Amino acid sequence: KILILDFGSQVTQLIARRVRESHVYCEIHPNDVSDDFIRQYAPKGIILSGSHASTYEDHQLRAPQAVWDLGVPVLGICYGMQTMAVQLGGEVSWSDTREFGYAEVRAHGHTRLLKGIEDFSTPEGHGMLKVWMSHGDKVTALPPGFKLMASTPSCPVAGMANEEKGLYAVQFHPEVTHTVQGQALLWRFVRDICGCAGDWIMGNYIEEAVAKIREQVGDEEVILGLSGGVDSSVAAALIHRAIGDQLTCVFVDHGLLRLNEGDMVMDMFAGKLHAKVIRVDASELFLGQLAGVTDPERKRKIIGGLFVDVFKAEAAKLKASGAGHKGATFLAQGTIYPDVVESGGTKTKKATTIKSHHNVGGLPEQLGLKLLEPLRELFKDEVRELGVALGLPPDMVYRHPFPGPGLGVRILGDIRPEFVKLLQRADHIFIEELRSTVDHNSGKSWYDLTSQAFTVFLPVKSVGVMGDGRTYDYVVALRAVQTSDFMTADWAELPYSLLKRVSSRIINEVRGINRVTYDVSSKPPATIEWE
Ligand code: XMP
Repeated sequence: KILILDFGSQVTQLIARRVRESHVYCEIHPNDVSDDFIRQYAPKGIILSGSHASTYEDHQLRAPQAVWDLGVPVLGICYGMQTMAVQLGGEVSWSDTREFGYAEVRAHGHTRLLKGIEDFSTPEGHGMLKVWMSHGDKVTALPPGFKLMASTPSCPVAGMANEEKGLYAVQFHPEVTHTVQGQALLWRFVRDICGCAGDWIMGNYIEEAVAKIREQVGDEEVILGLSGGVDSSVAAALIHRAIGDQLTCVFVDHGLLRLNEGDMVMDMFAGKLHAKVIRVDASELFLGQLAGVTDPERKRKIIGGLFVDVFKAEAAKLKASGAGHKGATFLAQGTIYPDVVESGGTKTKKATTIKSHHNVGGLPEQLGLKLLEPLRELFKDEVRELGVALGLPPDMVYRHPFPGPGLGVRILGDIRPEFVKLLQRADHIFIEELRSTVDHNSGKSWYDLTSQAFTVFLPVKSVGVMGDGRTYDYVVALRAVQTSDFMTADWAELPYSLLKRVSSRIINEVRGINRVTYDVSSKPPATIEWE
Protein backbone atom coordinates (compact mmCIF):
# COMPACT_ATOMS: atom_id res chain seq x y z
CA LYS A 1 0.00 0.00 0.00
CA ILE A 2 0.94 3.59 -0.66
CA LEU A 3 1.08 6.44 1.83
CA ILE A 4 0.09 9.90 0.65
CA LEU A 5 1.23 12.75 2.86
CA ASP A 6 -1.04 15.74 2.57
CA PHE A 7 0.44 19.21 2.69
CA GLY A 8 -2.98 20.79 2.27
CA SER A 9 -3.62 20.90 -1.46
CA GLN A 10 -7.26 20.92 -2.60
CA VAL A 11 -6.47 18.12 -5.04
CA THR A 12 -4.74 15.65 -2.72
CA GLN A 13 -7.78 13.39 -2.93
CA LEU A 14 -7.28 13.07 -6.65
CA ILE A 15 -3.85 11.55 -6.06
CA ALA A 16 -5.52 8.86 -3.96
CA ARG A 17 -8.16 8.26 -6.60
CA ARG A 18 -5.61 7.80 -9.36
CA VAL A 19 -3.60 5.44 -7.21
CA ARG A 20 -6.73 3.40 -6.43
CA GLU A 21 -7.54 3.35 -10.15
CA SER A 22 -4.23 1.58 -10.55
CA HIS A 23 -5.76 -1.05 -8.19
CA VAL A 24 -3.39 -0.11 -5.42
CA TYR A 25 -4.63 0.68 -1.93
CA CYS A 26 -3.53 3.99 -0.44
CA GLU A 27 -4.43 6.36 2.36
CA ILE A 28 -4.04 10.10 2.85
CA HIS A 29 -2.52 11.28 6.11
CA PRO A 30 -1.39 14.70 7.28
CA ASN A 31 2.19 15.66 6.47
CA ASP A 32 3.14 15.89 10.14
CA VAL A 33 2.51 12.28 11.17
CA SER A 34 5.25 10.81 13.34
CA ASP A 35 8.19 8.80 12.10
CA ASP A 36 6.80 5.86 14.06
CA PHE A 37 3.46 6.12 12.28
CA ILE A 38 5.20 5.91 8.92
CA ARG A 39 7.27 2.91 9.95
CA GLN A 40 4.19 1.10 11.27
CA TYR A 41 2.19 1.90 8.14
CA ALA A 42 5.04 0.25 6.20
CA PRO A 43 4.24 1.78 2.81
CA LYS A 44 5.72 0.40 -0.39
CA GLY A 45 5.99 3.98 -1.57
CA ILE A 46 5.21 7.50 -0.44
CA ILE A 47 3.68 10.41 -2.35
CA LEU A 48 4.06 13.99 -1.12
CA SER A 49 1.16 16.22 -2.16
CA GLY A 50 1.05 19.83 -3.26
CA SER A 51 0.17 22.75 -1.02
CA HIS A 52 -0.87 26.35 -1.24
CA ALA A 53 2.02 27.16 1.13
CA SER A 54 5.54 28.16 0.22
CA THR A 55 8.62 26.26 1.45
CA TYR A 56 10.08 29.69 1.75
CA GLU A 57 7.54 31.06 4.16
CA ASP A 58 6.52 27.99 6.08
CA HIS A 59 9.47 26.26 7.64
CA GLN A 60 7.30 23.83 9.60
CA LEU A 61 5.62 22.25 6.61
CA ARG A 62 8.13 19.47 5.94
CA ALA A 63 8.05 15.73 5.37
CA PRO A 64 8.97 13.63 8.42
CA GLN A 65 12.55 12.33 8.40
CA ALA A 66 11.30 8.73 8.10
CA VAL A 67 10.18 9.49 4.54
CA TRP A 68 13.84 9.76 3.51
CA ASP A 69 15.16 7.06 5.85
CA LEU A 70 12.71 4.26 5.05
CA GLY A 71 14.34 3.39 1.72
CA VAL A 72 11.07 3.16 -0.25
CA PRO A 73 10.40 5.17 -3.42
CA VAL A 74 9.09 8.70 -2.92
CA LEU A 75 7.23 10.88 -5.42
CA GLY A 76 7.01 14.60 -4.70
CA ILE A 77 4.29 16.59 -6.45
CA CYS A 78 4.47 20.40 -6.70
CA TYR A 79 5.06 21.52 -3.11
CA GLY A 80 6.11 17.90 -2.47
CA MET A 81 8.94 18.43 -4.95
CA GLN A 82 9.97 21.69 -3.34
CA THR A 83 10.12 20.27 0.14
CA MET A 84 12.07 17.31 -1.20
CA ALA A 85 14.54 19.75 -2.74
CA VAL A 86 14.86 21.83 0.42
CA GLN A 87 15.13 18.87 2.79
CA LEU A 88 17.74 17.04 0.71
CA GLY A 89 20.04 19.98 0.15
CA GLY A 90 18.76 21.69 -2.99
CA GLU A 91 17.41 25.18 -3.34
CA VAL A 92 13.99 26.71 -3.86
CA SER A 93 13.51 30.32 -4.84
CA TRP A 94 10.57 32.41 -4.12
CA SER A 95 8.87 34.20 -6.95
CA ASP A 96 6.06 36.68 -6.72
CA THR A 97 4.44 35.60 -9.96
CA ARG A 98 2.38 32.48 -9.89
CA GLU A 99 1.97 30.21 -12.89
CA PHE A 100 -1.31 28.44 -13.45
CA GLY A 101 -2.66 26.12 -16.04
CA TYR A 102 -1.61 24.34 -19.20
CA ALA A 103 2.08 23.80 -19.93
CA GLU A 104 4.18 21.61 -22.17
CA VAL A 105 6.98 19.86 -20.36
CA ARG A 106 10.08 18.43 -21.96
CA ALA A 107 11.44 15.17 -20.57
CA HIS A 108 15.22 14.86 -20.18
CA GLY A 109 16.91 11.52 -20.63
CA HIS A 110 15.32 8.24 -19.74
CA THR A 111 14.12 8.07 -16.18
CA ARG A 112 12.17 5.01 -15.07
CA LEU A 113 9.27 7.30 -14.22
CA LEU A 114 8.87 8.94 -17.61
CA LYS A 115 10.38 6.42 -20.02
CA GLY A 116 8.02 5.86 -22.94
CA ILE A 117 5.41 8.22 -21.48
CA GLU A 118 4.79 11.21 -23.72
CA ASP A 119 2.05 13.05 -25.58
CA PHE A 120 4.14 13.96 -28.59
CA SER A 121 7.75 14.46 -29.52
CA THR A 122 9.51 17.49 -30.94
CA PRO A 123 11.33 17.41 -34.29
CA GLU A 124 14.54 17.05 -32.25
CA GLY A 125 13.10 13.92 -30.69
CA HIS A 126 12.38 15.19 -27.19
CA GLY A 127 9.46 13.57 -25.45
CA MET A 128 6.83 16.17 -24.47
CA LEU A 129 4.07 16.04 -21.89
CA LYS A 130 0.91 18.14 -21.76
CA VAL A 131 0.47 19.00 -18.13
CA TRP A 132 -1.30 21.20 -15.63
CA MET A 133 0.96 23.37 -13.49
CA SER A 134 0.21 25.58 -10.56
CA HIS A 135 3.08 27.05 -8.64
CA GLY A 136 4.78 30.17 -7.39
CA ASP A 137 8.13 28.99 -6.07
CA LYS A 138 10.66 27.09 -8.15
CA VAL A 139 13.43 24.63 -7.53
CA THR A 140 16.59 26.48 -8.59
CA ALA A 141 19.29 24.03 -7.54
CA LEU A 142 19.05 20.24 -7.57
CA PRO A 143 19.91 18.42 -4.35
CA PRO A 144 23.13 16.36 -4.51
CA GLY A 145 22.67 13.08 -6.37
CA PHE A 146 19.68 14.33 -8.37
CA LYS A 147 19.43 14.78 -12.11
CA LEU A 148 17.11 16.88 -14.19
CA MET A 149 14.04 14.92 -15.32
CA ALA A 150 11.82 17.55 -16.94
CA SER A 151 11.71 21.26 -17.75
CA THR A 152 9.70 24.04 -19.32
CA PRO A 153 10.99 27.42 -20.52
CA SER A 154 9.59 29.18 -17.46
CA CYS A 155 10.30 26.37 -15.01
CA PRO A 156 13.80 24.97 -15.67
CA VAL A 157 13.38 22.25 -13.05
CA ALA A 158 9.92 20.80 -13.71
CA GLY A 159 11.03 17.35 -12.64
CA MET A 160 14.01 15.79 -10.87
CA ALA A 161 15.09 12.32 -9.86
CA ASN A 162 17.59 10.43 -7.79
CA GLU A 163 17.01 7.04 -9.30
CA GLU A 164 19.44 5.16 -7.07
CA LYS A 165 17.36 6.13 -4.08
CA GLY A 166 14.01 5.92 -5.87
CA LEU A 167 13.28 9.61 -5.33
CA TYR A 168 11.21 11.33 -8.01
CA ALA A 169 9.55 14.71 -8.12
CA VAL A 170 7.50 16.76 -10.55
CA GLN A 171 6.41 20.37 -10.41
CA PHE A 172 3.22 19.67 -12.39
CA HIS A 173 0.14 17.82 -11.15
CA PRO A 174 -0.17 14.28 -12.53
CA GLU A 175 -3.33 13.71 -10.45
CA VAL A 176 -5.54 16.11 -12.42
CA THR A 177 -7.07 14.93 -15.66
CA HIS A 178 -5.69 17.94 -17.55
CA THR A 179 -2.32 16.25 -17.28
CA VAL A 180 -2.95 13.82 -20.08
CA GLN A 181 -0.41 11.19 -19.05
CA GLY A 182 -0.96 11.73 -15.33
CA GLN A 183 -2.59 8.38 -14.72
CA ALA A 184 0.15 6.61 -16.71
CA LEU A 185 2.79 8.37 -14.62
CA LEU A 186 1.16 7.47 -11.29
CA TRP A 187 0.56 3.89 -12.46
CA ARG A 188 4.26 3.70 -13.39
CA PHE A 189 5.23 4.95 -9.96
CA VAL A 190 3.01 2.74 -7.81
CA ARG A 191 2.97 -0.43 -9.91
CA ASP A 192 6.43 -0.52 -11.48
CA ILE A 193 8.66 1.57 -9.26
CA CYS A 194 7.08 0.76 -5.88
CA GLY A 195 6.18 -2.76 -7.01
CA CYS A 196 2.59 -2.76 -5.72
CA ALA A 197 0.67 -5.78 -6.99
CA GLY A 198 -2.55 -4.14 -8.20
CA ASP A 199 -4.90 -6.49 -6.36
CA TRP A 200 -7.24 -3.86 -4.91
CA ILE A 201 -10.46 -4.98 -6.61
CA MET A 202 -14.02 -4.62 -5.29
CA GLY A 203 -15.13 -8.23 -5.80
CA ASN A 204 -12.31 -9.35 -3.51
CA TYR A 205 -13.08 -6.58 -1.07
CA ILE A 206 -16.57 -7.85 -0.15
CA GLU A 207 -15.28 -10.82 1.83
CA GLU A 208 -12.82 -8.68 3.72
CA ALA A 209 -15.46 -6.01 4.41
CA VAL A 210 -18.06 -8.56 5.53
CA ALA A 211 -15.59 -10.15 7.94
CA LYS A 212 -14.66 -6.76 9.31
CA ILE A 213 -18.30 -5.77 9.88
CA ARG A 214 -19.06 -9.09 11.62
CA GLU A 215 -16.08 -8.67 13.87
CA GLN A 216 -16.92 -5.08 14.71
CA VAL A 217 -20.62 -5.70 15.35
CA GLY A 218 -20.55 -9.10 17.03
CA ASP A 219 -24.10 -9.96 18.13
CA GLU A 220 -25.15 -6.35 18.58
CA GLU A 221 -27.69 -4.53 16.47
CA VAL A 222 -27.24 -1.81 13.90
CA ILE A 223 -29.51 0.89 12.59
CA LEU A 224 -28.76 2.59 9.35
CA GLY A 225 -30.19 5.76 7.89
CA LEU A 226 -31.33 4.92 4.43
CA SER A 227 -31.61 8.02 2.26
CA GLY A 228 -32.24 6.56 -1.16
CA GLY A 229 -28.83 7.75 -2.29
CA VAL A 230 -26.17 5.46 -3.71
CA ASP A 231 -23.92 5.50 -0.66
CA SER A 232 -26.41 4.59 2.03
CA SER A 233 -27.97 1.99 -0.26
CA VAL A 234 -24.67 0.25 -0.90
CA ALA A 235 -23.80 0.46 2.78
CA ALA A 236 -27.16 -1.12 3.64
CA ALA A 237 -26.67 -3.94 1.14
CA LEU A 238 -23.14 -4.62 2.38
CA ILE A 239 -24.12 -4.63 6.04
CA HIS A 240 -27.22 -6.71 5.30
CA ARG A 241 -24.95 -9.23 3.57
CA ALA A 242 -22.76 -9.34 6.66
CA ILE A 243 -25.29 -9.46 9.48
CA GLY A 244 -28.77 -9.95 7.97
CA ASP A 245 -31.54 -9.15 10.44
CA GLN A 246 -29.20 -7.59 12.98
CA LEU A 247 -29.53 -4.58 10.68
CA THR A 248 -32.58 -2.35 10.81
CA CYS A 249 -32.74 0.34 8.18
CA VAL A 250 -34.45 3.51 9.23
CA PHE A 251 -35.64 5.38 6.23
CA VAL A 252 -36.19 8.94 7.29
CA ASP A 253 -38.42 10.77 4.91
CA HIS A 254 -37.34 14.32 5.68
CA GLY A 255 -39.74 15.74 3.15
CA LEU A 256 -36.86 16.85 0.96
CA LEU A 257 -36.68 13.80 -1.29
CA ARG A 258 -37.29 13.54 -4.99
CA LEU A 259 -40.79 12.79 -6.30
CA ASN A 260 -41.97 9.24 -5.36
CA GLU A 261 -38.55 8.43 -3.97
CA GLY A 262 -39.90 7.10 -0.71
CA ASP A 263 -41.94 4.36 -2.33
CA MET A 264 -39.06 3.35 -4.55
CA VAL A 265 -36.70 2.96 -1.63
CA MET A 266 -39.18 0.80 0.28
CA ASP A 267 -39.80 -1.31 -2.77
CA MET A 268 -36.11 -2.02 -3.25
CA PHE A 269 -35.02 -2.72 0.29
CA ALA A 270 -38.07 -4.14 2.00
CA GLY A 271 -39.52 -5.67 -1.16
CA LYS A 272 -36.54 -7.05 -3.05
CA LEU A 273 -33.69 -7.34 -0.54
CA HIS A 274 -35.91 -8.46 2.36
CA ALA A 275 -34.10 -6.14 4.72
CA LYS A 276 -35.83 -4.78 7.81
CA VAL A 277 -36.83 -1.22 6.93
CA ILE A 278 -38.81 1.23 9.03
CA ARG A 279 -40.19 4.23 7.22
CA VAL A 280 -40.46 7.36 9.33
CA ASP A 281 -42.37 10.31 7.99
CA ALA A 282 -40.55 13.20 9.58
CA SER A 283 -41.24 15.87 7.00
CA GLU A 284 -43.21 18.08 9.36
CA LEU A 285 -40.45 18.00 11.92
CA PHE A 286 -37.75 18.84 9.37
CA LEU A 287 -39.64 21.52 7.51
CA GLY A 288 -40.76 23.05 10.79
CA GLN A 289 -37.23 23.39 12.09
CA LEU A 290 -35.96 24.67 8.76
CA ALA A 291 -38.58 27.38 8.39
CA GLY A 292 -36.92 30.75 8.03
CA VAL A 293 -33.38 29.34 7.91
CA THR A 294 -31.47 30.61 4.88
CA ASP A 295 -27.81 29.89 5.53
CA PRO A 296 -26.68 26.74 3.65
CA GLU A 297 -24.32 25.52 6.35
CA ARG A 298 -26.95 26.01 9.03
CA LYS A 299 -29.46 24.09 6.95
CA ARG A 300 -26.99 21.21 6.65
CA LYS A 301 -26.35 21.26 10.38
CA ILE A 302 -30.06 21.28 11.21
CA ILE A 303 -30.87 18.46 8.81
CA GLY A 304 -27.88 16.43 10.04
CA GLY A 305 -28.79 17.07 13.65
CA LEU A 306 -32.43 16.08 13.18
CA PHE A 307 -31.36 12.89 11.43
CA VAL A 308 -29.42 11.91 14.50
CA ASP A 309 -32.36 12.76 16.78
CA VAL A 310 -34.74 10.67 14.69
CA PHE A 311 -32.33 7.76 14.72
CA LYS A 312 -31.97 7.94 18.44
CA ALA A 313 -35.72 7.97 18.89
CA GLU A 314 -36.12 5.00 16.56
CA ALA A 315 -33.39 3.07 18.34
CA ALA A 316 -35.11 3.74 21.64
CA LYS A 317 -38.45 2.61 20.21
CA LEU A 318 -36.94 -0.58 18.87
CA LYS A 319 -35.52 -1.31 22.27
CA ALA A 320 -38.83 -0.62 24.02
CA SER A 321 -40.76 -2.81 21.60
CA GLY A 322 -38.92 -5.88 22.91
CA ALA A 323 -39.61 -8.73 20.46
CA GLY A 324 -36.05 -9.96 20.18
CA HIS A 325 -34.59 -6.49 20.04
CA LYS A 326 -31.84 -5.56 22.40
CA GLY A 327 -31.79 -2.14 20.85
CA ALA A 328 -29.33 -0.86 18.32
CA THR A 329 -25.89 0.08 19.59
CA PHE A 330 -24.44 0.97 16.20
CA LEU A 331 -25.38 3.70 13.80
CA ALA A 332 -24.29 2.84 10.27
CA GLN A 333 -23.66 5.48 7.66
CA GLY A 334 -22.72 5.55 4.01
CA THR A 335 -19.87 7.95 4.58
CA ILE A 336 -17.37 7.66 1.76
CA TYR A 337 -13.76 8.76 1.53
CA PRO A 338 -14.35 12.13 -0.16
CA ASP A 339 -16.79 13.04 2.66
CA VAL A 340 -14.11 12.25 5.20
CA VAL A 341 -11.43 14.25 3.46
CA GLU A 342 -13.62 17.23 2.48
CA SER A 343 -14.87 17.58 6.02
CA GLY A 344 -11.34 17.65 7.37
CA GLY A 345 -11.71 14.15 8.80
CA THR A 346 -8.18 13.09 7.89
CA LYS A 347 -7.17 15.37 10.73
CA THR A 348 -5.34 17.57 8.30
CA LYS A 349 -6.91 20.94 8.86
CA LYS A 350 -5.06 22.64 6.06
CA ALA A 351 -7.48 22.35 3.18
CA THR A 352 -10.31 24.76 3.86
CA THR A 353 -13.71 23.15 4.32
CA ILE A 354 -15.87 24.12 1.37
CA LYS A 355 -19.09 22.42 2.49
CA SER A 356 -19.66 20.37 5.59
CA HIS A 357 -21.40 17.15 4.67
CA HIS A 358 -24.00 16.37 7.25
CA ASN A 359 -23.14 12.69 7.53
CA VAL A 360 -19.78 13.62 9.02
CA GLY A 361 -19.97 17.21 10.15
CA GLY A 362 -23.31 17.45 11.91
CA LEU A 363 -22.93 14.60 14.37
CA PRO A 364 -23.16 15.68 18.00
CA GLU A 365 -20.41 14.41 20.28
CA GLN A 366 -22.74 12.57 22.62
CA LEU A 367 -24.37 10.42 20.00
CA GLY A 368 -25.01 7.47 22.26
CA LEU A 369 -24.42 5.09 19.35
CA LYS A 370 -21.19 3.70 17.98
CA LEU A 371 -20.45 4.46 14.34
CA LEU A 372 -20.23 1.84 11.62
CA GLU A 373 -19.00 3.28 8.34
CA PRO A 374 -18.02 0.43 6.03
CA LEU A 375 -17.50 2.65 2.97
CA ARG A 376 -15.23 5.13 4.71
CA GLU A 377 -12.21 4.12 2.68
CA LEU A 378 -13.90 4.04 -0.72
CA PHE A 379 -14.28 6.49 -3.55
CA LYS A 380 -17.60 6.81 -5.36
CA ASP A 381 -16.65 4.67 -8.33
CA GLU A 382 -15.48 1.98 -5.94
CA VAL A 383 -18.78 2.20 -4.04
CA ARG A 384 -20.66 1.65 -7.31
CA GLU A 385 -18.48 -1.29 -8.27
CA LEU A 386 -19.10 -2.72 -4.84
CA GLY A 387 -22.86 -2.22 -5.20
CA VAL A 388 -22.93 -4.15 -8.47
CA ALA A 389 -20.73 -6.86 -6.97
CA LEU A 390 -23.27 -7.11 -4.14
CA GLY A 391 -26.03 -7.67 -6.66
CA LEU A 392 -27.77 -4.31 -6.54
CA PRO A 393 -29.38 -3.31 -9.85
CA PRO A 394 -26.95 -1.24 -11.93
CA ASP A 395 -29.79 1.21 -12.55
CA MET A 396 -29.84 2.07 -8.87
CA VAL A 397 -26.12 1.97 -8.33
CA TYR A 398 -25.39 4.20 -11.30
CA ARG A 399 -28.01 6.67 -10.24
CA HIS A 400 -26.73 10.17 -9.92
CA PRO A 401 -25.58 10.97 -6.41
CA PHE A 402 -28.10 12.75 -4.22
CA PRO A 403 -26.90 14.81 -1.27
CA GLY A 404 -27.97 13.85 2.23
CA PRO A 405 -29.73 17.20 2.82
CA GLY A 406 -31.62 16.52 -0.40
CA LEU A 407 -33.72 19.27 -1.87
CA GLY A 408 -32.85 21.28 1.23
CA VAL A 409 -29.74 22.57 -0.52
CA ARG A 410 -31.49 22.86 -3.88
CA ILE A 411 -34.04 25.36 -2.67
CA LEU A 412 -31.97 28.48 -2.23
CA GLY A 413 -32.52 30.22 1.06
CA ASP A 414 -35.70 29.66 3.00
CA ILE A 415 -37.32 26.26 2.45
CA ARG A 416 -41.11 26.31 2.21
CA PRO A 417 -43.36 23.30 1.67
CA GLU A 418 -44.82 24.78 -1.50
CA PHE A 419 -41.30 25.29 -2.92
CA VAL A 420 -40.55 21.63 -2.27
CA LYS A 421 -43.60 20.53 -4.23
CA LEU A 422 -42.74 22.78 -7.18
CA LEU A 423 -39.15 21.63 -7.25
CA GLN A 424 -40.02 17.92 -7.01
CA ARG A 425 -42.25 18.15 -10.04
CA ALA A 426 -39.89 20.26 -12.11
CA ASP A 427 -36.94 18.04 -11.28
CA HIS A 428 -38.91 14.93 -12.14
CA ILE A 429 -39.60 16.28 -15.61
CA PHE A 430 -35.94 17.13 -16.16
CA ILE A 431 -34.77 13.66 -15.10
CA GLU A 432 -37.48 11.93 -17.11
CA GLU A 433 -36.42 13.76 -20.26
CA LEU A 434 -32.74 13.07 -19.63
CA ARG A 435 -33.47 9.37 -19.28
CA SER A 436 -35.58 9.18 -22.40
CA THR A 437 -33.37 11.23 -24.71
CA VAL A 438 -30.71 9.13 -26.38
CA ASP A 439 -27.59 10.60 -27.88
CA HIS A 440 -27.18 9.02 -31.29
CA ASN A 441 -23.39 9.14 -31.33
CA SER A 442 -22.92 7.11 -28.19
CA GLY A 443 -26.23 5.29 -27.99
CA LYS A 444 -26.49 6.36 -24.35
CA SER A 445 -29.18 8.36 -22.65
CA TRP A 446 -28.34 11.86 -21.55
CA TYR A 447 -28.92 10.69 -18.00
CA ASP A 448 -26.03 8.27 -18.39
CA LEU A 449 -23.94 10.85 -20.21
CA THR A 450 -24.14 13.23 -17.26
CA SER A 451 -22.71 12.56 -13.83
CA GLN A 452 -25.24 14.58 -11.92
CA ALA A 453 -28.28 16.48 -13.06
CA PHE A 454 -30.97 18.21 -11.09
CA THR A 455 -33.13 21.26 -10.80
CA VAL A 456 -32.54 24.16 -8.44
CA PHE A 457 -35.35 26.29 -7.10
CA LEU A 458 -34.65 30.03 -7.13
CA PRO A 459 -36.81 32.02 -4.77
CA VAL A 460 -37.15 34.93 -7.16
CA LYS A 461 -40.15 35.84 -9.20
CA SER A 462 -40.05 37.00 -12.77
CA VAL A 463 -42.66 38.26 -15.16
CA GLY A 464 -44.05 36.06 -17.89
CA VAL A 465 -46.99 35.89 -20.19
CA MET A 466 -49.32 32.95 -20.56
CA GLY A 467 -52.32 33.05 -22.83
CA ASP A 468 -53.65 36.55 -22.40
CA GLY A 469 -52.46 36.97 -18.86
CA ARG A 470 -49.37 38.24 -17.22
CA THR A 471 -47.69 35.80 -14.82
CA TYR A 472 -45.40 36.59 -11.95
CA ASP A 473 -43.90 33.27 -10.91
CA TYR A 474 -40.77 31.47 -9.76
CA VAL A 475 -37.63 30.55 -11.66
CA VAL A 476 -35.77 27.24 -11.73
CA ALA A 477 -32.27 26.49 -12.94
CA LEU A 478 -31.34 23.22 -14.58
CA ARG A 479 -27.94 21.89 -13.60
CA ALA A 480 -26.20 19.04 -15.41
CA VAL A 481 -22.52 18.29 -15.06
CA GLN A 482 -19.97 15.86 -16.34
CA THR A 483 -17.20 14.84 -14.00
CA SER A 484 -15.24 11.79 -13.04
CA ASP A 485 -14.46 12.82 -9.50
CA PHE A 486 -16.91 15.54 -8.39
CA MET A 487 -13.92 17.65 -7.37
CA THR A 488 -13.89 19.36 -10.72
CA ALA A 489 -16.78 19.35 -13.18
CA ASP A 490 -17.85 20.75 -16.53
CA TRP A 491 -21.39 21.76 -17.33
CA ALA A 492 -22.90 19.33 -19.80
CA GLU A 493 -23.52 20.44 -23.36
CA LEU A 494 -27.08 19.14 -23.48
CA PRO A 495 -28.79 19.31 -26.88
CA TYR A 496 -30.90 22.43 -27.34
CA SER A 497 -33.85 20.26 -28.38
CA LEU A 498 -33.72 18.51 -25.01
CA LEU A 499 -33.47 21.79 -23.09
CA LYS A 500 -36.35 23.13 -25.09
CA ARG A 501 -38.57 20.16 -24.28
CA VAL A 502 -37.70 20.30 -20.58
CA SER A 503 -38.32 24.00 -20.42
CA SER A 504 -41.69 23.93 -22.12
CA ARG A 505 -42.85 20.90 -20.12
CA ILE A 506 -41.87 22.49 -16.80
CA ILE A 507 -43.52 25.80 -17.61
CA ASN A 508 -46.66 24.13 -18.92
CA GLU A 509 -46.99 21.39 -16.36
CA VAL A 510 -45.80 23.02 -13.17
CA ARG A 511 -48.00 25.94 -12.29
CA GLY A 512 -45.98 28.43 -10.28
CA ILE A 513 -42.87 28.29 -12.46
CA ASN A 514 -42.71 30.50 -15.52
CA ARG A 515 -39.01 30.58 -16.33
CA VAL A 516 -36.32 27.93 -16.79
CA THR A 517 -32.62 28.72 -17.00
CA TYR A 518 -29.60 26.53 -17.67
CA ASP A 519 -26.53 26.76 -15.45
CA VAL A 520 -23.35 27.09 -17.53
CA SER A 521 -20.77 27.28 -14.74
CA SER A 522 -17.94 24.85 -14.23
CA LYS A 523 -16.49 23.66 -10.94
CA PRO A 524 -14.28 25.35 -9.96
CA PRO A 525 -15.01 28.21 -9.53
CA ALA A 526 -18.69 27.28 -9.03
CA THR A 527 -19.68 24.17 -7.08
CA ILE A 528 -22.01 21.51 -8.40
CA GLU A 529 -24.80 22.26 -5.95
CA TRP A 530 -25.91 25.86 -5.61
CA GLU A 531 -25.58 25.80 -1.84
P1 XMP B 1 -20.38 20.46 -4.62
O1 XMP B 1 -21.64 21.24 -4.60
O2 XMP B 1 -19.56 20.62 -3.37
O3 XMP B 1 -20.84 18.96 -4.66
O4 XMP B 1 -19.56 20.69 -5.86
C1 XMP B 1 -19.98 17.86 -4.84
C2 XMP B 1 -20.80 16.61 -4.62
O5 XMP B 1 -21.18 16.53 -3.24
C3 XMP B 1 -22.59 16.47 -3.11
N1 XMP B 1 -22.96 17.23 -1.91
C4 XMP B 1 -23.38 16.69 -0.76
N2 XMP B 1 -23.58 15.40 -0.41
N3 XMP B 1 -24.25 16.09 1.75
C5 XMP B 1 -24.04 15.11 0.85
O6 XMP B 1 -24.24 13.94 1.19
C6 XMP B 1 -24.07 17.42 1.47
O7 XMP B 1 -24.28 18.29 2.30
C7 XMP B 1 -23.60 17.72 0.14
N4 XMP B 1 -23.30 18.87 -0.49
C8 XMP B 1 -22.89 18.55 -1.74
C9 XMP B 1 -23.12 17.06 -4.40
O8 XMP B 1 -24.43 16.60 -4.67
C10 XMP B 1 -22.10 16.61 -5.41
O9 XMP B 1 -22.35 15.29 -5.83
